[in-house]
Amino acid sequence: MRRTKISVIGAGNTGASCAVWAASRELGDVVLLDISEGVAKGKALDLLCSGPIEGFDCSIHGTSDYADTAGSDVVILTAGIPRKPGMSRDDLIQTNVKIVRSCAEQIAKFSPDAVLIVLSNPLDAMVYTAWKASGFPTHRVIGQAGCLDVARFRAFLAMKLNCSIEDIQAMLLGGHGDDMVPLPRYTSVHGIPVDQLLSKEEINECVERAKAGGGEIVKLMGTSAYYAPASGCIQMAEAIIKDKRRILPCAAYCENEFGVAPGQKGKGYFIGVPVILGKNGAEKVIEIQLSADEKVLMETSIAHVKDLVKVVCDLFPDLA
Ligand code: NAI
Ligand code: 2OP
Repeated sequence: MRRTKISVIGAGNTGASCAVWAASRELGDVVLLDISEGVAKGKALDLLCSGPIEGFDCSIHGTSDYADTAGSDVVILTAGIPRKPGMSRDDLIQTNVKIVRSCAEQIAKFSPDAVLIVLSNPLDAMVYTAWKASGFPTHRVIGQAGCLDVARFRAFLAMKLNCSIEDIQAMLLGGHGDDMVPLPRYTSVHGIPVDQLLSKEEINECVERAKAGGGEIVKLMGTSAYYAPASGCIQMAEAIIKDKRRILPCAAYCENEFGVAPGQKGKGYFIGVPVILGKNGAEKVIEIQLSADEKVLMETSIAHVKDLVKVVCDLFPDLA
């Protein structure tokens, strides 16, 4: 039987961490690609040699040649520059749009049937870029942001409650930016609505810390986070590879859903929404009811994503 093949494009901090989590869960054979061939080959070999100790058994191959990624089932696109202290994710757009475009074209050429998970920032605009450049159907292009943002929200709530992270279920919508929309109303602790356990102020502290969570880490270490972002990618990849039909917050293509681009067929946007993830990628967007206040927050987030996509389309009119 053919083994599942996962390619990770970009062997930097996030890409290498994706390879680590994928290998440690034995999700399939892993190909790690970077423009720096030595970095990709070196990290792949190093990781492979941890297999006998960690007890995983899969092939891990480093390369700068897309031919080695051919026929991948899932491709995770992490190539691009990360932010430095003082930068927003949006400041990366001019550089990363070119990188993401060129990578997505190669991915489509060598793995035409893959599900493509995008991580590069600014996330929602880069998913759009990868969709247009790959020519893939919308359900096979998905962005990782929500799994990370919701994990941060859960972690901060657990710290506040002094309880296990495992028991916190949370929901979050919107773009991967400062205007992401954590939803305390849909957040519970082993089924107990969170507002029965924490005050409004305490919940709000966790909301704000989750929204600024990426920036907090950039400030601490001078570059952006990688363990949790990579965990988010691998959570998505696992749901797809094992056809688990998990409901996870992902940047998925929306038109009428959440009023993103009502009635504008083929002119939608990718934004964080709850999605059923299975073997075909984003199999269904789940619409939930929003209060008037939540709708306003979501509309602001959608407007921001549209502005970023406009920057992409102004730079590359053929992607419009
Ligand atoms: P990094 O600088 O550690 O690694 C990026 C790698 O991409 C480098 O090894 C570089 O050589 C490679 N690369 C650049 N151009 C390439 C090309 N054309 N083809 C193949 N490889 C290429 O950066 P890091 O920390 O891994 O971040 C990567 C991206 O992910 C950044 O844009 C960052 O902002 C984003 N990110 C997104 C998150 C999210 O939740 N969506 C979370 C964390 C990071
Ligand atoms: C993060 O949220 C920078 O998007 C990256 O950590």
